[in-house]
Amino acid sequence: MVLDSLHLQNFKNYSDCTINFNPGLNFIFGDNGNGKTNLLEAVSFLCYTRSFLQNSESDCVKYGSELFDISGQFHNELSVTNKISLRYYRENSDKRFTANNEPVGKLSAFFGTYPLVVLSPQDMKLTTGLPADRRKNFDILISQLSRVYFDDLKRYSKVIKQKNALLKENLTMRRYHNNELLNLIEPWNDELIELGSRLIARRMKLVNEFRPYIIGNFSLIVGDAYEPSITYESESGNSENESELKEAIALNLRDKYENEIKRGISLVGPHRDNYVFSLLKSDGTFNVKTFASQGEHKTFLVSLKLAEYRYLKDNTESYGSGEPILLLDDVFSDLDKSRIEKICSILPAYKQAFLTTTNKDYLDIVGKYFDKNNISSFKITNGSTANIG
Ligand SMILES: Nc1ncnc2c1ncn2[C@@H]1O[C@H](COP(=O)(O)OP(=O)(O)OP(=O)(O)O)[C@@H](O)[C@H]1O
Ligand SMILES: [Mg+2]
Repeated sequence: MVLDSLHLQNFKNYSDCTINFNPGLNFIFGDNGNGKTNLLEAVSFLCYTRSFLQNSESDCVKYGSELFDISGQFHNELSVTNKISLRYYRENSDKRFTANNEPVGKLSAFFGTYPLVVLSPQDMKLTTGLPADRRKNFDILISQLSRVYFDDLKRYSKVIKQKNALLKENLTMRRYHNNELLNLIEPWNDELIELGSRLIARRMKLVNEFRPYIIGNFSLIVGDAYEPSITYESESGNSENESELKEAIALNLRDKYENEIKRGISLVGPHRDNYVFSLLKSDGTFNVKTFASQGEHKTFLVSLKLAEYRYLKDNTESYGSGEPILLLDDVFSDLDKSRIEKICSILPAYKQAFLTTTNKDYLDIVGKYFDKNNISSFKITNGSTANIG
């Protein structure tokens, strides 16, 4: 998928701005606080229908304005052109998402049609932060590939919400006798087992398939001295087999039932699982979260995101969607010269990419690897853009 042009109206610090992009690399530079990240965020609204930074729509309306409008023209592998627009009205929180001026129906049917991979400074929390941050990252990845997963996930979080509400109500009000509570919880547990086993199986499949992708992309940047690894940790076991997982979740639910009642929360299922990132060096296996240096965190993240790009590209079922769009926000900070040079040298292998930086000098480095026609640079100054060439 290629984004040909973007029009922004009253989106954050952009009043009214139209930009025509390069189908190859778009090098976006400017000083702090001028609107580089905002621009990428606007692109994510069109591809994901929401902000990759999890900002609410109302925070994105330009101060003092009533609505924002984002509109993008894309073309796909089959050269079919589509116009995707999002208009948001602050007053009544009305969000209108359209494709070729028609309202977009089911979100699960749209998600993944415009595949997108984003790396931003906030992603540091993927290697340093909580299991929920990592689950979210891979949920977005799998959801772009599978409508079933997207729908299962939505339903699953509703089930957990309902079950938690019931457990909490019981804890605070002591409303139910034991049998009564069990009867109320059982239908939620049945659904939890069904959906939970499907979600874990899909996540296991991802981790197993994804391993060579991250190893390959990591070695492109740092060579073969050491290797990255991702494992999935679940109390329900490490299987891709749904019936095995069902049994394990059911057993776990029985074990933890008393504890769930005592604590008033749901303790079993994929919402408790974790993805663990490690580095395998000659002297042992290191957990990235605990032991990696700042540059190693960043290198791990860059290879993770480049691997996500390749994995999405190889597995997408969306007809004609083709290669994802790659957003690299401030990718070079924390990296040494040789790693920056390596990343620049492999960027031409990605179809359309947007790279932001405060340092214009990187244009000379990355420019060496691109034909003139395949790179454009833009200077961003306080919510306006100038195409530099
Ligand atoms: N709703 C809004 N209305 C107007 N301006 C906003 C709104 N939300 C954020 N901004 C402004 O957008 C600017 C931040 O833009 P952005 O994060 O894109 O900067 P940046 O160029 O990526 O900077 P950095 O190099 O520091 O990452 C801030 O100055 C902020 O005040
Ligand atoms: Mg920024």
